[in-house]
Amino acid sequence: MRSARPWREAWHDALYGHDGFFLREEPAAHFRTSVHASTFFAEALVRLARDRGLRTVVDLGSGGGELLTAMREHSEPGELELVGVDIARRPLGLAADIEWLRDVPATFDGLLVANEWLDNVVCDVVQLDSDAVVRFVLVDPETGDEQLGEPCSDPWLSRWWPLDGAGVAVPGLRAEVGSARDDAWSAAVDHLGHGVAVAVDYGHLLQTRPPLGSLRSYRDGHEVSVRPDGSRDVTAHVAVDAVAARVGGRLQSQREALAGLGVAATWPDAALAARDPLAYVEALSRAGEAVELTACGGLGELWWITAER
Ligand SMILES: C[S@@+](CC[C@H](N)C(=O)[O-])C[C@H]1O[C@@H](n2cnc3c(N)ncnc32)[C@H](O)[C@@H]1O
Repeated sequence: MRSARPWREAWHDALYGHDGFFLREEPAAHFRTSVHASTFFAEALVRLARDRGLRTVVDLGSGGGELLTAMREHSEPGELELVGVDIARRPLGLAADIEWLRDVPATFDGLLVANEWLDNVVCDVVQLDSDAVVRFVLVDPETGDEQLGEPCSDPWLSRWWPLDGAGVAVPGLRAEVGSARDDAWSAAVDHLGHGVAVAVDYGHLLQTRPPLGSLRSYRDGHEVSVRPDGSRDVTAHVAVDAVAARVGGRLQSQREALAGLGVAATWPDAALAARDPLAYVEALSRAGEAVELTACGGLGELWWITAER
């Protein structure tokens, strides 16, 4: 393979390089996050900001600005200063009073949110070879074909994702080196003076790391073969316990976090169906949204990493 490169480099160029996936595409056209599933998600974050007396919300990796748009609709006029941060251009039609920046403000007090951002922070991919040596995985961006490269001795691996767990080194075991995610979220949280930082993402814990890693690609709403060629998203679940330890954060499932912020599926009384069929259907649909956001095997299994400053 002439053009095989370390995963981290190829992944970066595919998503963020010249004409990269996220500079070109609208995330909502390719995948559905909690933000798209229901405004309950935004309402819960409005409640969190309100409960803590926070007036500024910075949404890192804001995509199409959907979260901030919904938070604007579900808060009092002028109650919250809303700031979207993304490498992508300001979305067309975004309300004029929502600020749009390329970088997190140098320092601010408020609520910092990053929903499904960390899984797109690129990192090295490593694999155990047949001599039990951990090596960087190289990938050909055009084909997705892989080969092993130089040995990797990142201390993060022995602490957070040992590939010889229980003393058994099985060739082929893989890991995504999460130090890049720890660094990225810690750097973002450093911008917060007083307030709360919430990162929400799919992830795993030390006891439940996926043995073959979790690299995936999505395009047009479907999972497709993993390839860092810029035509598709590339994502990997987050070692959330490592990120939480780095920022001194608390870990909760989305199911638990949203329940604490008042999101619950309230099924309408069947009598409403006869009295006011439209209201009944609307109430059913809202209950369905709450179920989707908190479902086992789905969005409910996202992790919330909450840190106070
Ligand atoms: C999976 S999308 C999530 C969008 C949105 N948060 C949602 O829940 O629908 C990830 C977003 O993070 C943005 N992004 C990735 N790295 C970034 C960075 N370093 N700074 C700002 N935005 C970034 C991408 O452009 C993309 O819009």
